Amino acid sequence: MHKLVVANYKMNGDKKFFVSVAKKINKTKAKDTKIVLCPPFVYLPFLKIKNKNVYLGAQDMSQVQNGKSTGKVSPTMLKEFGTEYVIVGHSEIRCNGETEQTIKQKIKLAIDNQLVPIVCVGEKDKSSGLEELSSQIQSILDAAAQGDNVVIAYVPVWSIGTGELPTVTKINKAVQVIKKQIKDKKLNASILYGGSVNEQNCTELLKSKIDGFLLGGVSLKVDKFLQIVKVVDNV
Ligand code: 13P
Repeated sequence: MHKLVVANYKMNGDKKFFVSVAKKINKTKAKDTKIVLCPPFVYLPFLKIKNKNVYLGAQDMSQVQNGKSTGKVSPTMLKEFGTEYVIVGHSEIRCNGETEQTIKQKIKLAIDNQLVPIVCVGEKDKSSGLEELSSQIQSILDAAAQGDNVVIAYVPVWSIGTGELPTVTKINKAVQVIKKQIKDKKLNASILYGGSVNEQNCTELLKSKIDGFLLGGVSLKVDKFLQIVKVVDNV
């Protein structure tokens, strides 16, 4: 299976930044790694992708197809701008009261619209085990069908932007929990790690059984982002 590196730019960047990101990333050569760029919605049209390894993603979407949903963006709207992936259930959205029910609806709607959901799961506290993952993974099982393409990103909330990392052993345990729970569903799933990844720690993190990364802060430094892509591609 191919590897995957996803850039979540969160609420950062401007038009000039995303125009230059596209120019630099279009020149990237990767053998076996897909790159997904998730800018804020309004900048999707400025990422002009001309590289078969690079795809556009959104950071969220509405759980309904259209209608009375002020401020929301539908999957159809995302697709009009060439979006092929969508992040669902990021903890920065879960913390505003997003429920598992809403997350399920988003995963299903994404798949129904031929968007690949990148579903974020992970425990809140460093001291916690991985029990929280099971209800989060259950939402994926409830929403997706056999053979569906799904990306599952293990993103421990305590690691986001803190510089704190789980051990390779803990990441492997999370991967094992995810794989065990989804096994019978026969999804076409990739598993990523996200949280404080940078160009220095990525080699160590890749000793775990992951298919790539969901990158936050480091995505804003395009050269470092591309360094990570290179490391992932050469594993
Ligand atoms: P950082 O890489 O900035 O820790 O963010 C991780 C994340 O939230 C990915 O979506």
